[in-house]
Amino acid sequence: MPSGSLEDLPQLNADVPWDEFNPADYISHNYRTVHPVDAEIIAIVRDHFSDHFRRFPGRPVRGIDVGAGANLYPALAMLPWCEEITLLDRSKRNVGYLRDQLDSYDAHWDAFWYELRKNGRYVAYSCDPRERFRQIVRVEQGDLFDMAEREGRWTLGTMFFVAESLSTSEIEFRQAVECFFHYLEPGAPFAAAFMEESVGYEVGGRYFPACKVRRDQIHSTLKSHTRELRTIPVGEQDQDKVRDGYTSMIVAYGFRRT
Ligand SMILES: C[S@@+](CC[C@H](N)C(=O)[O-])C[C@H]1O[C@@H](n2cnc3c(N)ncnc32)[C@H](O)[C@@H]1O
Repeated sequence: MPSGSLEDLPQLNADVPWDEFNPADYISHNYRTVHPVDAEIIAIVRDHFSDHFRRFPGRPVRGIDVGAGANLYPALAMLPWCEEITLLDRSKRNVGYLRDQLDSYDAHWDAFWYELRKNGRYVAYSCDPRERFRQIVRVEQGDLFDMAEREGRWTLGTMFFVAESLSTSEIEFRQAVECFFHYLEPGAPFAAAFMEESVGYEVGGRYFPACKVRRDQIHSTLKSHTRELRTIPVGEQDQDKVRDGYTSMIVAYGFRRT
């Protein structure tokens, strides 16, 4: 039995034992192979980024993945466009996992790179992604709520399954979204993913809290920070849901409002 229960979960982000998040268990449940829903997400995100950078080539790009956890595919999606990528996470164990991946990331991530290469702009990228990942990615342990002095520092951003999956508080959900956009330069392209109506999730025998947000709440929360916002449900055809306790996944993309 997992320890803890949904009823006795800590409510706020600061009360959650993030250092007990088990990256190996999280990966074996979510990212050992490419699930169809992740292939859908990857297709949307890679096409958004490649469309943008086709129109605006040659600018130095600084990317950030907020709440990166044990997921490398948002960083891989940003890789061809970036001169540096920051992976930010609060959990010591997730940060340890990410640091261990820097030198030569694990072979199962190659299948995610293969999905990205279904877009010709990623095929045209001539670098070895593993080598490039080692060169430009830096991992930072930190609290996303706590970086006010770095407004507009990044020019490309991702935040996958974080804002709604860090506490039960809708206020913290909205604050996390606000912080994410705060770090991005006006006009910066972004992609984010959310669980709709999530009741929390289990990793390695421990429950972690989530905030139940509907698609219209996600859309309206992001709207005031963005332009050309799209929010798209994904994974609706899946018979077996990859992750438990949610109704669907939502991918959001667009640009930070100028
Ligand atoms: C559900 S996991 C999502 C991980 C990953 N982005 C993915 O796509 O699977 C939520 C992540 O948010 C991180 N997190 C929670 N609160 C945070 C905070 N205040 N600042 C930064 N990261 C945080 C957790 O450590 C965890 O890695």
